[in-house]
Amino acid sequence: MESSKVDLAFQFAGLRMANPVILASGVIGISAGLLRRAAREGAGAVITKSFGITAREGNPGPVVTEVSSGFLNSLGLPNPGADEMKNEIVEARNGGVPVIASVYGFNEDEYAKVATLAKEACADALELNVSCPHVQEVGIEIGQSPELVYRVTKAAKSSFSGPLIVKLSPNVSDIVEIGEAAAKAGADALTATNTVRAMTIDIDVRQPILGGKFGGLSGPAIKPIAVRCVYELYERVPLPIIGCGGITKWQDIVEFMLAGASAVQVGSAVAYGDLAVFRELVEGLRDFMSAHGYTRLEEIIGTAHI
Ligand SMILES: Cc1cc2nc3c(=O)[nH]c(=O)nc-3n(C[C@H](O)[C@H](O)[C@H](O)COP(=O)(O)O)c2cc1C
Repeated sequence: MESSKVDLAFQFAGLRMANPVILASGVIGISAGLLRRAAREGAGAVITKSFGITAREGNPGPVVTEVSSGFLNSLGLPNPGADEMKNEIVEARNGGVPVIASVYGFNEDEYAKVATLAKEACADALELNVSCPHVQEVGIEIGQSPELVYRVTKAAKSSFSGPLIVKLSPNVSDIVEIGEAAAKAGADALTATNTVRAMTIDIDVRQPILGGKFGGLSGPAIKPIAVRCVYELYERVPLPIIGCGGITKWQDIVEFMLAGASAVQVGSAVAYGDLAVFRELVEGLRDFMSAHGYTRLEEIIGTAHI
């Protein structure tokens, strides 16, 4: 079959992207110029670095280290605050693909306020980060509690009229109950998942390597965990799922889709390769679909479930 017959469009809650391969939050920092470059290199949409109402310095260094099959980071959500990020969003939107604002807060009022600021910047969608594993109050206290996830999702939903995605943590005993809480509060989609809480120790210095001691593990090391989370959510939560964790090649995207993901996010692969990885991933997915006679993503999404 001609590959031109393959339609890779992904849409939910009124948001449409030409392909389902999205730049994940944070990995390339805050610059609108880089978000626009990711769009030029073929990303279907881009997500900003997570930001809160006011600027935040982040954790002491070192904040990133490479481990086997992944990266460990404990950046601690450094960002210049919503006022400056609003300008970055406005500029990033010239890249021609949807710009999704990733936001966090320390309570429901802050989530509501930062959602309003993202709306003022005309972000095309909102992703709630309730899952950063190296900032205590955002990642651990909120993302592990169905009650708190429900409350912050509801608060953000009332302040942002566009599509709302909740990015879940894998650091929970039952991801489904957290996904259900987000769905009940009005989320339009779920991202599964953020990084896995982890640690590495320097055996000469006999101290944890990261300044923040604990960090979030990303990259190929976490892919089977993220695929499991997507599979579990797909069976019980009736929302589109965006798979995220360890994608470096098109085969990984197919695997996430078979598990139930409607779209995917790519983070660490950008650090292993560069932004050109988006074109390779999208073309690889298109060729796979074409070789098997598929014309739409729906024909493969969730088909590993029996
Ligand atoms: C250096 C770095 C910074 C990150 N910053 C954020 C962030 O600000 N907000 C967020 O939701 N996720 C953040 N993440 C997590 C990624 O968006 C993604 O969920 C995670 O890395 C798993 O995907 P990957 O294996 O493709 O990298 C960050 C990850 C890395 C490696």
